[in-house]
Amino acid sequence: MSKALDGVRILDFTHVQSGPTCTQLLAWFGADVIKVERAGAGDITREQLRDIPDVDSLYFTMLNHNKRSITIDTKNPEGKQVLETLIQKCDVLVENFAPGALDRMGFTWERIQELNPRMIVASVKGFGPGPYEDCKVYENVAQCAGGAASTTGFDDGPPVVSGAQIGDSGTGLHLALGIVTALYQRTQTGRGQKVLAAMQDGVLNLCRVKLRDQQRLDRTGTMKEYPQYPNGKFGEAVPRAGNASGGGQPGWILKCKGWETDPNAYIYFITQAPVWAKICNVIGKEEWATDPDYATPAARLPHLKDIFAEIERWTMTKTKFEAMQILNKYDIPCGPILSMKEIAEEPSLRKTGTIVEVDHPTRGKYLTVGNPIKLSDSPTEVTRSPLLGEHTDEVMTELGYSPEQISALRTAGAI
Ligand code: COA
Repeated sequence: MSKALDGVRILDFTHVQSGPTCTQLLAWFGADVIKVERAGAGDITREQLRDIPDVDSLYFTMLNHNKRSITIDTKNPEGKQVLETLIQKCDVLVENFAPGALDRMGFTWERIQELNPRMIVASVKGFGPGPYEDCKVYENVAQCAGGAASTTGFDDGPPVVSGAQIGDSGTGLHLALGIVTALYQRTQTGRGQKVLAAMQDGVLNLCRVKLRDQQRLDRTGTMKEYPQYPNGKFGEAVPRAGNASGGGQPGWILKCKGWETDPNAYIYFITQAPVWAKICNVIGKEEWATDPDYATPAARLPHLKDIFAEIERWTMTKTKFEAMQILNKYDIPCGPILSMKEIAEEPSLRKTGTIVEVDHPTRGKYLTVGNPIKLSDSPTEVTRSPLLGEHTDEVMTELGYSPEQISALRTAGAI
């Protein structure tokens, strides 16, 4: 079956996490992704957090599936020429170097345009233009600068970063959307363009509701769905709301049977308004369905702490899966707190290709997260990440270099 991005060739100049997540998605949609790495070393993640000596780390393998790897020294004059040839033959250049690195290499936007006016140049940077534009940025810097950390955690504790890599993988996703949009526009204009996804912007985009709350707080001085209401104090900025889900559908994380020994024996419980009567029945507090202090969402807001304490008395008598089964029967929204171990072993995620087992020549079998976006006409087959420089000869031959030229470039240290 054909793939959505068949025929699109990507010059993948990315490293670490944010850029590679973007190009991996494009590869899963069928693009030919040629990862350009530094000879001898390659993407730094190949050797980071290794669990097997001298074998590409899971960090690398899980971010670089379905790609080809070519090694070029882009600071070597002959290596630069090879990169120029690649620029002429590719549709998109994706990079996430520190600000200015591509220019210092000699590949300014103007130069790239000269070589290939149809080229889309897509970049992840930590910050957009402004006071921090020259900074190097990693995941947690973006989570802090994008507003996620100040609004995550509990009111009486410090800011907290999320386990979800919203700065890196989140920005990679944003960039991928920018790239396919630019490819679409190119079908009308025939021109390439620059695509920029700044990590601070990506995180902030995902924290949109917190900027909403900032303005509500500015106007009214309070937010009734926050755990600070009615007894705690609000300051000038959106506070950390713990596990509250907010709005008319308050939620909280509650203990389940076994919580004393299992750190994940918890369930997320949402007291969704339309099923309030059913919740009251399930937990044995039928009188709350009609009691004016509990019957409406507004009346419940000042009592949320007590309400969740009562519901927890019930959830603690059930495992998270038993609670889930009972609550689902009544359409009461809830979610078990799944550990990574439980997720890795979940058969339904294997069935859908969301968790995939991949074989690797030096690592052997390992699990990875497959394509989370499913297209009915463009199925994803996850193939292993490339070894460093595995496809140098293959790609060079496709670019028109003869075996003698390849050998000479290798001797010169250009590839
Ligand atoms: N041949 C020769 N040189 C190469 C090369 C190649 N194939 N590939 C990269 N290089 C050089 C670059 O030209 C650069 O050289 P310069 O500093 O002399 O200009 C150098 O390698 C290092 O690149 P840099 O991006 O600065 O790496 P770093 O390890 O110092 O910084 C980051 C890493 C992630 C902090 C930085 O790249 C960054 O801020 N990126 C943007 C934000 C981002 O994506 N962050 C998320 C990471 S998950």
